[in-house]
Amino acid sequence: MILVTGAAGKTGQAIIRVLLKRKKSIRALVHKDNQIQLVQVLGVQEVIAGDMCSQKTMNQVLQGVRAVYHICPNVSPEEINIGQIAIKAAQSAEVEHFVYHSVLHPQIESMPHHWQKMRVEEQLFESGLSYTILQPAPYMQNILAYWNDIMKKNKYAVPYSENTRLCSVDLEDVAEIAGIVLSESGHKWAIYELCGTQILSQIEMTQILSQYLGHRVDVKVIPIEEWEVNARNKGMGDYQVKTLIKMFRYYDRFGFFGNSRTLECLLNRSPTSYATFIERTIRERL
Ligand SMILES: NC(=O)c1ccc[n+]([C@@H]2O[C@H](COP(=O)([O-])OP(=O)(O)OC[C@H]3O[C@@H](n4cnc5c(N)ncnc54)[C@H](OP(=O)(O)O)[C@@H]3O)[C@@H](O)[C@H]2O)c1
Repeated sequence: MILVTGAAGKTGQAIIRVLLKRKKSIRALVHKDNQIQLVQVLGVQEVIAGDMCSQKTMNQVLQGVRAVYHICPNVSPEEINIGQIAIKAAQSAEVEHFVYHSVLHPQIESMPHHWQKMRVEEQLFESGLSYTILQPAPYMQNILAYWNDIMKKNKYAVPYSENTRLCSVDLEDVAEIAGIVLSESGHKWAIYELCGTQILSQIEMTQILSQYLGHRVDVKVIPIEEWEVNARNKGMGDYQVKTLIKMFRYYDRFGFFGNSRTLECLLNRSPTSYATFIERTIRERL
């Protein structure tokens, strides 16, 4: 039995689909009752709603599991606390394998959501548990949050320079690696950077998008203040807004670079390119 936390989120669902294809028996932890059905529809029979911040809940859901795939909620101010609770529960349940969904370059202190993941990794090193740490680059799928807007306005709005170069990874490739490390031997105590092959500027990304859509899409650079007003109007929390602003400033100043060789070796094929991801997305959505 494998426990997947954060199971109703986009990462959780992608990983569950791969584990089910591999015929793994899964227990899924979702946040709220109304997310249970979403995960049951994927084919998971044992879906539990509960709070990852509760030691009692985590102790219960980890009982009787062989492995855990731990996904913390995105940009959570509680990441270190949630990590500590999950590790403690895994220790008491004597879980054989703890897989932690971290992030590429958790060492970056000026991005608090990265730095917090590094502190959780540090706790894992000292936990006595057998662990694997996956460090994915930003997902190619992040553009989907703006997809409808892009389609309506033919503009891709970003709060950093159009020349900002970012690496990315297809979440489907990340999920495939989750399936591999939870099924095959030889991955304990490994830390894997999971990154696609290209580092693209925002202009290059829209050029690929334009090519596959068959019409022009341009980058629109918006001031961070405008992004902040929109995010707050949509109900984003203060910690998330402030943390993402730090991330945008970091991206603007330094870009974000990673190497694809580890992912390529693990997949035993070339990681999905941005063009393939865009072509697949357009095919699925249009
Ligand atoms: N997006 C990227 O590019 C990227 C790249 C690398 C790593 N990551 C990491 O991937 C992880 C998952 O990201 P994601 O975008 O898949 O997240 P997500 O879609 O926001 O999913 C997180 C899930 O956790 C649930 N949740 C929130 N608080 C909870 C709590 N206290 N107890 C139990 N469940 C709770 C959420 O439910 P509600 O909807 O009810 O809150 C949601 O279903 C994050 O740690 C992120 O840092 C992301």
